[in-house]
Amino acid sequence: MENLIEIKGVTHAYKTKHGPLPVLDNLEINVPEGEFCAVVGPSGCGKSTLTRLVAGLMKPDQGEVWLHGERVTSPRKTVGMAFQNPVMLEWRTILENVMLPLEIVDTGMTRPEREGRARHLLEMVGLKGFEGKRPSELSGGMRQRASLCRAIVHSPDVLIMDEPFGALDNFTREDLWQTMRDLRGKENFTCVLITHDLRESVFLGDQVIVLSGRPARTQFVLDVDLPADRTIDVLYEPKAVDMLHLLRDQIRIAQGRDGEVH
Ligand SMILES: Nc1ncnc2c1ncn2[C@@H]1O[C@H](COP(=O)(O)OP(=O)(O)O)[C@@H](O)[C@H]1O
Ligand SMILES: [Mg+2]
Repeated sequence: MENLIEIKGVTHAYKTKHGPLPVLDNLEINVPEGEFCAVVGPSGCGKSTLTRLVAGLMKPDQGEVWLHGERVTSPRKTVGMAFQNPVMLEWRTILENVMLPLEIVDTGMTRPEREGRARHLLEMVGLKGFEGKRPSELSGGMRQRASLCRAIVHSPDVLIMDEPFGALDNFTREDLWQTMRDLRGKENFTCVLITHDLRESVFLGDQVIVLSGRPARTQFVLDVDLPADRTIDVLYEPKAVDMLHLLRDQIRIAQGRDGEVH
């Protein structure tokens, strides 16, 4: 399968007043088309930096990022992004918020087509009936659902999510994982998901990449060989539990300690 995302030998340091801060060290990541790549690693190791590089919002000091056979050198419109705290415009309805990228990216769609697309996605994530609400009228989980719709409304090749479910309670988070699983069955995107939740990485990932401590290298790659239509129950089965133990050990190594993980 063709790799849709290729991160080749990416090395980056931030310039700070105390001198360079090396953040990424010769990072190599390949994500085949349509796959979900979950990335885990210690806090501060460079995960959010990685998302900015993939989106073309920053250039690495060394190495290259390729999306769909094209080298990324500037911000890409064919990328969708979702974050932990979705920024929604309060003066717009949920429907209008979801439609926003379609107003920015020229898709050639008419207004009714744009609205139809946004309504369709909102229905898919269970927000039918909430289209006319304002962001503050929705729960955190619902806002995150709407923000997922907004991230993919313009049918991006690549969806980058930086700890998107981090602020949600456990049950809401698990609901969102299932929504995400269903969305990816219906929409075509290749995904990079940054998360600090190992269960989330195993539930959603086709591969899980463990980054080392800063500067981040690819420390370990796990192929998640579980059925595509996996349910939350799968996480309690021995195969997944073994994977979770393996990842936990790798995170301890990445943190440079064998003791308890906080
Ligand atoms: N613009 C910046 N300038 C200087 N240092 C930065 C900048 N952005 C992030 N950093 C530092 O780089 C390191 C990696 O940051 P980040 O990529 O946000 O890590 P993570 O998302 O894994 O927690 C952190 O130590 C952070 O403080
Ligand atoms: Mg981060």
